[in-house]
Amino acid sequence: METIIEVGDALKADHAVKLAKQNRILLWRGDFRNALQLLAAMKRRLSRVRPQESSAKTFHNYRKTTARRAHLLSRVQVDISPDFELNLPSTPDVSEACKQAFGQDLKQRMPLTEILGALGAQRWRTKGVHVHALGHKIYPHYGVFAPTRQEYIDLVANAPWPNPHKAFDIGTGTGVLAALLAKRGAESVVAVDIEQRSVDCAHDNVTRLNLGKKIQIQHQDLFPTGKADLVVCNPPWLPGEVSAPLDAAIYDPDSRMLRGFLDKLPEHLTDKGEAWLIVSDLAERLGLRTTTHKLITQAGLETKDQLTIRPRHKARPGDPLAEYRAAEITSLWRITL
Ligand SMILES: C[S@@+](CC[C@H](N)C(=O)[O-])C[C@H]1O[C@@H](n2cnc3c(N)ncnc32)[C@H](O)[C@@H]1O
Repeated sequence: METIIEVGDALKADHAVKLAKQNRILLWRGDFRNALQLLAAMKRRLSRVRPQESSAKTFHNYRKTTARRAHLLSRVQVDISPDFELNLPSTPDVSEACKQAFGQDLKQRMPLTEILGALGAQRWRTKGVHVHALGHKIYPHYGVFAPTRQEYIDLVANAPWPNPHKAFDIGTGTGVLAALLAKRGAESVVAVDIEQRSVDCAHDNVTRLNLGKKIQIQHQDLFPTGKADLVVCNPPWLPGEVSAPLDAAIYDPDSRMLRGFLDKLPEHLTDKGEAWLIVSDLAERLGLRTTTHKLITQAGLETKDQLTIRPRHKARPGDPLAEYRAAEITSLWRITL
């Protein structure tokens, strides 16, 4: 059973981890900055992932450890007032960040990690991410995939341009690729996403970029109705269950979106049209699924070309998957019927 214990500045990380493992809620009453230090120290104690006999097993173990760590850290909770205030010493103003992230879903007691996530997201939303290929900033919202790694955008910016009248962007996120397609000359773009947060975010960005006349955003699972001459998709790149808001941009249970995209593509691509599937080979390297090339062939489609780029990001220290991430290649597959 869950019991609530009031805790404060004197609580040590080892004891906090022990209490969290006993399923206690640690209701924080101390200084906000000390709570951040406590969470960081707890995180260090909960981060070790032992390599297993296969990469796939190491990956599953890594995800299990990450989920368990998130659960244990979420036991450190704070009370939040109806007007979105934390009444703790040294607290920053969290009200706007919480309104943006949780809207009406704000609870009276919340994990501190969720509030920190909202604060981080608010910083991105205010500051924006400069996208070189676009020559503009994109403003990610809470829970929406942020284009902080830009190699995949460079692939889309440099692929031979097929002069499409109409383009689709499947799984648009912030709308960054839809904006790039419009910038490259597509006359009309329909951009869709299964997540309402992404739809709202893409709408916001398209409006800021003054591209509302060219780009239409829809809340949709996979394809909108009709056909396009260019269909672009950057699906979540790892098969796996979704347990947190941002997971849906990274993990695709049983590669459902990737397989669904390839299976349904013939119904939505014009005869002479071209699809651009952007996907990293990390899942293949980890032994989590068959190759993208094989999936394309199995769907009865042709590969016209494969443009590749190496991600520029570095693996985090202690990452048990570092060796696979270091070898990762992101491809833009040019696919035809
Ligand atoms: C890796 S993110 C890419 C976002 C954006 N296109 C970009 O390149 O920055 C994948 C996106 O696909 C969306 N998505 C996942 N499953 C989907 C589905 N079945 N139909 C439409 N969108 C989906 C996610 O919500 C997420 O926004």
